[in-house]
Amino acid sequence: MKTINPHALTCATPVEEFPGTMSKARIFIKRDDLNGLLISGNKARKMAYLVADAHRHGCDTLITCGGIQSNHCRTAAAFARRFGFNCHLFLRGKPGKNYTGNLLLDHLLGAHVNYVTPSQYTVIDDIMAEYAERLKKLGMHAYVIPEGGSNATGCLGYRDCMIEMNAFIRQQRIQAVYCAVGSGGTYAGLLLGKNLAGSHVHLNGIIVCDTVEFFKNKIERICTDALTMHKLSFTIRHKDITLIDGYQGTGYGIPYPEELHTIREVAKHGIILEPVYTGKTFYGMLQDIKRKKYRRVLFVHTGGIFSNFAYARILSVSLRGD
Ligand SMILES: Cc1ncc(COP(=O)(O)O)c(C=O)c1O
Repeated sequence: MKTINPHALTCATPVEEFPGTMSKARIFIKRDDLNGLLISGNKARKMAYLVADAHRHGCDTLITCGGIQSNHCRTAAAFARRFGFNCHLFLRGKPGKNYTGNLLLDHLLGAHVNYVTPSQYTVIDDIMAEYAERLKKLGMHAYVIPEGGSNATGCLGYRDCMIEMNAFIRQQRIQAVYCAVGSGGTYAGLLLGKNLAGSHVHLNGIIVCDTVEFFKNKIERICTDALTMHKLSFTIRHKDITLIDGYQGTGYGIPYPEELHTIREVAKHGIILEPVYTGKTFYGMLQDIKRKKYRRVLFVHTGGIFSNFAYARILSVSLRGD
């Protein structure tokens, strides 16, 4: 079997200080938005592990799922193209007249796109498993990746990221790290890395959908699976997981005025956030810093720039101040 190295596409990313004056604290930004194939952000670190695993298992096809503007699905399509896999996506929702943002890239990258309703999406793992069986009958060998690439394999990308940030966290006496939580894998990996590095930094995840209880259970499960898989002897429990509620707005992918204001202000310093994950997380972080009186924090910028194009109308209104 020809060897491939998907990890060659991810790299150690820089940390820079945010020059804005939106907070009394010093805010540093881990520029993971710059990472990976097609500036894939957090999805590249996870996908590198998943694609390497798919290759190890002799698979020729990737199957995965997400929202219609999923950054994760676009990353899967890009890695599949680069490493010679077929890619089948299950996207929740309906396409508009014109493709835009990530959906446009999915199509350009030649992924096979299936659209599913929100109710079908509630059983998406079963749908993907059945689909893999059907492909098997056609002689294909599919590797099924769960939503967001958030499982014991994918999360290892963020274990690496925390270990990469650890020296900076110590040298700069960072009190808290913030990240978005959308399917839980990024936070789970960072938490594993924090334990492995013996760090005491506060790890704060801002949830952008669902509930704290839902994500605590999911993150605990991902960590426990990863600990078992890698024969690590520590445990992760609910009490080790700090998730912050209250910044989801009225639902997944629905922006709100304070968030749009944050996106505009941060962009003035050359950093592009987006309305689904990082806009909500940066805004939530600013509020949390005030509450907890932190002086030095690190924001993990998880990327997602392309979904801005799917929000062109609402962002234009916000920029014009209509
Ligand atoms: C840009 C971006 N940031 C953050 C997240 C959240 O990461 P996770 O799904 O690992 O919780 C996602 C995906 O869900 C994302 O696409």
